Amino acid sequence: VIFFVQDIVAQLKELEKQRAFDSLVILSDQNTYPLLPGAFETLETKHFHIIIPAGEQHKNLSTAQFIWEEMKKGGASRKSWMVNIGGGTLSDLGGFCAATYMRGISTINIPTTLLSMVDAAVGGKNGINLGGIKNLVGTFHEPEQVWLHPEFLYTLPEEELQNGWGEVIKHGIIAGGELWELSRAVIPPIKETQIWSRLILLNIELKKQIVQEDPRESGKRKILNLGHTVAHALESVFMSHGEYISHGHAVAIGMVIESIAGELASITPTATAQAIIETVAKTFPLIPIARNWEPAFFQAMTSDKKTVAGELQFALPISIGQVIPDQVLSREHIIRAFEIYNKNAAKI
Ligand SMILES: NC(=O)c1ccc[n+]([C@@H]2O[C@H](COP(=O)([O-])OP(=O)(O)OC[C@H]3O[C@@H](n4cnc5c(N)ncnc54)[C@H](O)[C@@H]3O)[C@@H](O)[C@H]2O)c1
Repeated sequence: VIFFVQDIVAQLKELEKQRAFDSLVILSDQNTYPLLPGAFETLETKHFHIIIPAGEQHKNLSTAQFIWEEMKKGGASRKSWMVNIGGGTLSDLGGFCAATYMRGISTINIPTTLLSMVDAAVGGKNGINLGGIKNLVGTFHEPEQVWLHPEFLYTLPEEELQNGWGEVIKHGIIAGGELWELSRAVIPPIKETQIWSRLILLNIELKKQIVQEDPRESGKRKILNLGHTVAHALESVFMSHGEYISHGHAVAIGMVIESIAGELASITPTATAQAIIETVAKTFPLIPIARNWEPAFFQAMTSDKKTVAGELQFALPISIGQVIPDQVLSREHIIRAFEIYNKNAAKI
């Protein structure tokens, strides 16, 4: 169940009345713990907090072990529920620990970043990074409830807002219509709660609909990987060169490069690729990518979970509002797309 919540304390009281759980495990990170001061202390039901350090580098086995141990210490049972307050890193970790603790307890996600409100908090995917590979270990575990509260965005740093906007543009390309119109504009001012509520709702409905059709990513759900085959490789290569690119930025550049490659393979029409490039460039700098990174980049792409029998597979737009999965692109098309991207990047 996904819904907007005006008053989180009142919502917690309501949940308590339903008595579906015997205790609550409240997971947050150092930045999200202070977002709901005193809210849980109004509960009569047993509850305890687990606070972890913020950041993707902590989405690993040792933090998961810390969480499991704290759950045990706090007396979490099979009937406990876990409440994840935070961004996608937190809900991926929390979801994973909840899915595996005593073979699975229920969760509530309270997303606090734009990325998690429009994407990570729904769909049930969770996981941790292992051996330098993102999300190598994880499960599918649908949250019982997702509580949306756009006002959490007020405290979100600007770069995190931009990070989430990459996924908003992706959803706009997939959905077309109103969501495309909203996502092709610049990021709305943060206090425009009505616009944000509409935007978050459209995003979440799209994701929910796709996930319902294909919960295990065997078909349609793969269209949500638009931009991601290139993006994950970019993130790995940046990391191995001691540099950093945000996930949203990598997805934005990934969508541009994949659209150009799709155009070269006569899958994506030129006007569609152009509309995507223009939209991305409104929010994200199209930074050049070093030519000598190419071997490492291909290495990262071929070790990606999305590679099938050595073939590089992509979700590609065939129009705004229509993205198709399982498109194979040749190495030559991708290399050429990088060259075209780099030439354009130099001009902007
Ligand atoms: N499971 C999925 O379907 C799915 C989908 C997309 C992404 N993801 C995962 O999500 C992760 C990225 O998530 P993210 O971008 O939300 O990052 P994040 O969870 O790391 O949060 C980014 C930073 O913002 C802080 N923060 C969170 N909410 C805040 C608020 N309201 N005010 C101030 N600071 C706040 C956090 O403490 C953190 O420092 C990645 O690990 C990615 O793999 C998962």
